[in-house]
Amino acid sequence: MKIDREALYAAALEARKNSYCPYSGYAVGAALLAADGRVFLGANIENAAYSPTICAERAAFAAAVSAGVREFVAIAVCGGRKGEEPDASCTPCGVCRQVMAEFCHPGLEVILTGNTLTLGDLLPHAFDM
Ligand code: THU
Repeated sequence: MKIDREALYAAALEARKNSYCPYSGYAVGAALLAADGRVFLGANIENAAYSPTICAERAAFAAAVSAGVREFVAIAVCGGRKGEEPDASCTPCGVCRQVMAEFCHPGLEVILTGNTLTLGDLLPHAFDM
């Protein structure tokens, strides 16, 4: 499947608008492209108790897997201070990388702000069983 990276990144920017981040003030959006061409969006959802916070990437995976979709080819992620442009240093956290590894092969494209990597770049030697 041909990946339209710009369109997927634009979808992540749209998703970022729905970020609920009153505690950190850091807004993240994600757009997950499934093998069937569907795109699932996610935004970070924070919580007063902090630890229940869900990252944008995992919100997107939760939406997709809950819809019965488990094959993916790319994910775009953008984040930064709310109200500001996305920051090039926003990469998926370690927990999100491990969640990606549950459903995706190492060649999954991870489209970031100003850079595109693979899941294998981000999480070599992922745990599996
Ligand atoms: N966050 C994400 O949504 N994705 C990441 O991969 C890194 C962190 C969110 C969690 C929290 O709401 C805020 O960014 C600051 O850590």
